[in-house]
Amino acid sequence: MPRDWDRHYQEYTGPTQPARVVRRWGRRIPAGPLLDVAGGLGRNAFYLARLGHPVTILERSPVALAQVAAKARRTGLPVILVACDLEQPEVALPVGLFAGVIMTYFKAVPLLPRLAKHLTPGGLLLVEGFTVIEAARKGSSPEHYWHEGELPALLSGLTCLEYGEAWLRGRHRGWGVWQHSASR
Ligand SMILES: C[S@@+](CC[C@H](N)C(=O)[O-])C[C@H]1O[C@@H](n2cnc3c(N)ncnc32)[C@H](O)[C@@H]1O
Repeated sequence: MPRDWDRHYQEYTGPTQPARVVRRWGRRIPAGPLLDVAGGLGRNAFYLARLGHPVTILERSPVALAQVAAKARRTGLPVILVACDLEQPEVALPVGLFAGVIMTYFKAVPLLPRLAKHLTPGGLLLVEGFTVIEAARKGSSPEHYWHEGELPALLSGLTCLEYGEAWLRGRHRGWGVWQHSASR
């Protein structure tokens, strides 16, 4: 993964279609506001905003934030930006509950239990990312990649609706969907 995201975003616009888990599950998120964690250039957020959700993006890169802000102005879609460093242990998360929380291709283990508490009853948490098998294939450090079975173990308090780890389009990925059940 690039370490300097600002430089990366100055040179590369990235994929525009949302992550696969968002394409598969986005329409099943209940109505209401959403949180996109480390949302990058907003490929998930703009797709979900077009489905009618106000989406708040948490993101550190000023370059990404500026590009997303310009696109939100241009399209008039309800995408709200919060600049923050999600690796800070006590990083403030937006107040309130969300019908969905999305975290794709960003790994923040300590944040996951906090994010789960921001779900409304029935709300969905969508996660997708590369696994350590992909890191080994690329010769990358495994630090930012998911270990086998790591995600389900971290989210045992939620109801798992789908979980998978597989080679998809030539890269090894893990993904999952969890629900805050009303009775939890
Ligand atoms: C691989 S990109 C994924 C972007 C988006 N989630 C997607 O799937 O298109 C990782 C994103 O995490 C952001 N990021 C990295 N470290 C961060 C941090 N400490 N706090 C907030 N955002 C961070 C980067 O700026 C980048 O936009």
